[in-house]
Amino acid sequence: MRAIVYTEFGPPDVLQIKEVQKPAPKDNEVLIRVYATPVSYGDLTARNFKNISSREFNMPLPLLLAMRMYFGFNKPRISILGSEFAGEVESAGKDVKLFKAGDQVMGYLGQRMGAYAEYLCMPESGSLAIKPAIMTYAEAAAVPYGAIIATSLLGKGNLQRGHKVLINGASGGIGSAAVQIARYYGAEVTGVCGTPRLEYLKSLGADRVIDYTEEDFAQNGETYDLIFDILGRSSYSRCKNSLKPKGIYLLASFKMKALLQMLWTGMVGSKKVICVLSSEKSEDLVFVKELIEAGKYKSVVDRCYPLEQAAEAHRYAESGLKRGQVVITVGKDNQD
Ligand SMILES: NC(=O)c1ccc[n+]([C@@H]2O[C@H](COP(=O)([O-])OP(=O)(O)OC[C@H]3O[C@@H](n4cnc5c(N)ncnc54)[C@H](OP(=O)(O)O)[C@@H]3O)[C@@H](O)[C@H]2O)c1
Repeated sequence: MRAIVYTEFGPPDVLQIKEVQKPAPKDNEVLIRVYATPVSYGDLTARNFKNISSREFNMPLPLLLAMRMYFGFNKPRISILGSEFAGEVESAGKDVKLFKAGDQVMGYLGQRMGAYAEYLCMPESGSLAIKPAIMTYAEAAAVPYGAIIATSLLGKGNLQRGHKVLINGASGGIGSAAVQIARYYGAEVTGVCGTPRLEYLKSLGADRVIDYTEEDFAQNGETYDLIFDILGRSSYSRCKNSLKPKGIYLLASFKMKALLQMLWTGMVGSKKVICVLSSEKSEDLVFVKELIEAGKYKSVVDRCYPLEQAAEAHRYAESGLKRGQVVITVGKDNQD
């Protein structure tokens, strides 16, 4: 089969199209013909992992070491990127009960990756769900990562109807999902992103948008029940006065200092810092699939690139110009 392979860390040109062995499903696995896979934050980071400094890495240092062991110190240990996808089940192992050949599916592989390829295998118990019929493969491929991570992390935010929520980093993979899920739960949502993506963010249903190049949300006098900081670009000390008395500062990306603040605020005071690692549950994907079918959640595709132009897709995703998802399409001209 054809796949995008990388054998060294570096700029987008390290992504090369190659012929590799087509995988065969184990008894508990499905073989999936991939039709679309988006370029995610994880793909961009893993492609250039050797050159990511500890300062640029948005998590505690011990995690950086663990990730270096996983992704490789000098050479990539994983050769095919792509953590989420949409496609069609081609065949199923003999123990598979939930899926059958011909099912249109979307799924999340997490750090295992491997979706920049014509085929992949995954266990039926993984984060896999039937693709919403109202979405194209390209749109559906961009759903699982944001849906799973945002549902999991927002679950720690004590979100309630009528809460005021601010999402810092609302135009990205996790943030665009979090905006829509928080709106579904009846929150009043303010999203923060850069200038080019303000209209995109409004189109996702944010009640209010803030351009971080123009306004500091922590200085405008507004207060929130929940501030969800995706990249950890702000800090608890800066946000504290923007939290309501029992407000939560929830971090998807955090360093040791925020972990200590979580410990401290867990013992004293009413405002809390929460740093959390997401869990990957297929129920969360099914939950978002139902929101999609009810017309309460959408995914916006900015551009599609064919598999052989994966490097170009990465360049565009890194350009700062994208408004929505950049998707690599695999061997299917009509993405419906
Ligand atoms: N806790 C967990 O279990 C977990 C799981 C997965 C990922 N993560 C973490 O989540 C992060 C990736 O999130 P993602 O996939 O959503 O990334 P992404 O798609 O790259 O989106 C990043 C977002 O941050 C915004 N942003 C960039 N600079 C900013 C600034 N100075 N101030 C405010 N917002 C800014 C971007 O806005 P513009 O593009 O409009 O500039 C965009 O909305 C990584 O740090 C990763 O480690 C955590």
